[in-house]
Amino acid sequence: MSRFFKFKTIESIRDAAAQLNLRLEFDTALDPLWSPFHVHGRRVGNRLAIQPMEGCDATPDGQPGELTFRRFERFGSGGAKLIWGEACAVVPEARANCRQLIIHASTLSNLQELVERTRTAHRKALGDDSDLLIGVQLTHSGRWSYQQPIIAQADPLLDSRLPKREGPSGPTAHAHLISDDELDRLQDDYVRAAGLAYQAGFDFVDLKQCHRYLLNELLAARRRPGRYGGSYENRTRFIRAIVSRTREQYPNLIVGSRLNLFDGVPFLKGEGGTGAPVPFQTPVETCWGTNPENPLEPDLTEPLQLIGELQALGVAMVNVSLGNPYASPHLLRPFEYAPSEGYLSPEHPLIGVARHIHCTRVIQRAFPDLVVIGSGYSWLQQFAFSAAAAEVRAGGVTAVGMGRASLSQPDFARRLQSDEGLDQKRICRTFSYCTTLMRSKSHPLGQYPTGCPPFDKEAYGPIWKTLQAAEPDA
Ligand SMILES: Cc1cc2nc3c(=O)[nH]c(=O)nc-3n(C[C@H](O)[C@H](O)[C@H](O)COP(=O)(O)O)c2cc1C
Repeated sequence: MSRFFKFKTIESIRDAAAQLNLRLEFDTALDPLWSPFHVHGRRVGNRLAIQPMEGCDATPDGQPGELTFRRFERFGSGGAKLIWGEACAVVPEARANCRQLIIHASTLSNLQELVERTRTAHRKALGDDSDLLIGVQLTHSGRWSYQQPIIAQADPLLDSRLPKREGPSGPTAHAHLISDDELDRLQDDYVRAAGLAYQAGFDFVDLKQCHRYLLNELLAARRRPGRYGGSYENRTRFIRAIVSRTREQYPNLIVGSRLNLFDGVPFLKGEGGTGAPVPFQTPVETCWGTNPENPLEPDLTEPLQLIGELQALGVAMVNVSLGNPYASPHLLRPFEYAPSEGYLSPEHPLIGVARHIHCTRVIQRAFPDLVVIGSGYSWLQQFAFSAAAAEVRAGGVTAVGMGRASLSQPDFARRLQSDEGLDQKRICRTFSYCTTLMRSKSHPLGQYPTGCPPFDKEAYGPIWKTLQAAEPDA
């Protein structure tokens, strides 16, 4: 039974926000969502985006698989005019799981086909794709790389979560601390990957700096010695370098970044299964965008400085995120139901939604010319679009991305813009099946593909059944 989401009308969700003292608005008219905007001279046809939603369905060698093509075609025909493509590893050792996409000369022609098929699906459904932008997220999974964790610094709050490998002396962490020389070489990999993305036909690349993957961890590497650690200047050296080099070498490629504004501390299952912050000692130095004296609170000083610098270097879009999917999922994607092995939400999810919206407003108001994409709206269910319209109207965000909601109902934009309206039977209810699939490894290939088992039954119903048979507690 739903613990928190009990809203039938817009008034009831407005009242709940008011009772919690949250500055959230909900418009009944969705018109602001249908006005186009421009990015780097390109017209984008509406204010709705598909968030990066990894399907964990690539082939073992990193090529898009059948379900990858299917997902992108569904996104393409869905009507959102910005498709922020999912995590794609810049080098094989940077993969978060063994079915993550890889961007490499060997995957180029299939990535090209992925872009083409997405555009064809869009044209078939909408007529015109000249105002559609498609991007790809370039990632290095850092400490969450599945073969071997690759860390930018030791982190007393996160190191106990490193995947363990069974050895003669029991499970031992086996992380590799990436060296400055390796980071220098990794810059070349990013620029090469951006070039391949451009060749494949993507309109933009996202230099991913969120969710405590490698580039996010570098931003917080205050304890790291050398050229990439310690001072703000050193911690931001890598991202500034790859933005400049990409802009210089591929001037027609749009550069964006998905950026954590606030890392916060990890959470654990506490009393009664509810999430609780891990014990910490202040000042907390290993988190980005976080108040060191009270790390449960954001401190946007450095993110604001960085975004200003990146915009000056040519970053045209920032997609906002918070938290860590492995350690603080309630910050990143407010949820009603916990995934298997996850904790129950430690706060009313409306507070989590409001935190996203507030942080996004601060960025958009500081940089009115920057394209800022908001996220974390799916928990709002049918009211997500009313909140999105209110934020766009008030200038708190340029466009709003749908994550989990895009798996259950990828055609939300097309339906809302026509008289059809949302399909009430396919509204994401944040059951967390998608996360459970992503975390489950008993599949013969070592990784289950993920999607929406309850509302995209045709593809994911059987996959969910297989998981239940293999792991009855899932
Ligand atoms: C199954 C799944 C896959 C995801 N894949 C990515 C990804 O590849 N890159 C990324 O930055 N975020 C990823 N996310 C996070 C989403 O983009 C989004 O930030 C999050 O779900 C919150 O938005 P929502 O409330 O609309 O779901 C993923 C989330 C889920 C549940």
